[in-house]
Amino acid sequence: MPERLLSGIKPTGNIHIGNYFGAMRQFLELQDQYESFLFIADLHALNQIHNPEELADNIREIAKAYLAIGLDPDKVTLFQQSRVPAHTQLTWIFNSITSMGLLERAHAYKDALANERSVNVGLFDYPVLMAADILLYHPKVVPVGNDQQQHVEIAVDIAQRFHHLYGPTFTIPQPLIRSEVAVVPGLDGRKMSKSYHNVIGLFDTPEATVKKVMAITTDSKGLSEPKDPETCTIFALHKLFSTDQIEELRERYRSGSITYKESKERLAERINAFLQPIRERKAELDSQPEYIERVLAEGSAKASEMAEKTLREVMERVGLSASHHG
Ligand code: ADP
Ligand code: TRP
Repeated sequence: MPERLLSGIKPTGNIHIGNYFGAMRQFLELQDQYESFLFIADLHALNQIHNPEELADNIREIAKAYLAIGLDPDKVTLFQQSRVPAHTQLTWIFNSITSMGLLERAHAYKDALANERSVNVGLFDYPVLMAADILLYHPKVVPVGNDQQQHVEIAVDIAQRFHHLYGPTFTIPQPLIRSEVAVVPGLDGRKMSKSYHNVIGLFDTPEATVKKVMAITTDSKGLSEPKDPETCTIFALHKLFSTDQIEELRERYRSGSITYKESKERLAERINAFLQPIRERKAELDSQPEYIERVLAEGSAKASEMAEKTLREVMERVGLSASHHG
């Protein structure tokens, strides 16, 4: 049996090339090597998005993104978190053995507090739901971006606490983090993130993509001045899209024989060539809502079976199962 992998993406909006290179590409590369469970973390999105149409739309977009990049539902179990009630049920049991202190140390919560955002209980409890997401399926590995490492560690803490109280039950998971995938920069040079409105969307049109690339912020080096490739956002993106030409580009940056304009034009062409098949597949999927529904229904049924099994065992261990009354 291949080892199991599990990961999820929150449906919180426009999926971008940072998400692709930071998370989704790994799912694609690993789908033949692991028994993969990948899900739409819609319950996690609910503490951010309170507009029902927007949430429903985001859920469909993530489902299509998973399929459009080439994940094969015959190999991968694709499911929707909210269709598997065991996630919330296990969350409650974990809530009851998790200290406030553990969650008060979570970066996402601390960031929200620091930004003086009002914090809902769902956001505070997010790592516990995430622990349930993971531990229900006994995965060996959890591929995530850097920013999620702490959440996987909290899941491990919760598993160990449970084991201490009730005996061994869960597989201890490991985060799978690709250190070589640095943060993908956005148009303004900061981390590409939908909250910064600096993204190139996976489903942007070719025209919008060209416009965005031409608007990438650079320094003001003149046409034939030498340029530093390592501090240039355009170059950082070439590293993802123009790997076969990266040495030539580096050389031309250093010798001052490329303008930012030319570098941007080449990049836009490369990004568009890369995104074209993904967009085409997405357009097909737009006209196949029944197919998407079938994939999610079948995936969620399969996930439920496994999750239910774990939940029953947990209920047995904590003293909530019917057999304790006999
Ligand atoms: P956003 O910052 O746009 O809200 P999310 O936090 O929803 O993105 O991230 C979803 C996944 O994509 C996470 O695994 C995260 O690590 C990865 N990711 C997001 N932005 C980037 C980026 N700029 N570079 C690399 N990975 C990213
Ligand atoms: N918290 C993750 C993110 O923001 C999404 C997520 C939810 C997840 N549950 C998970 C990732 C379980 C891996 C495993 O990107």
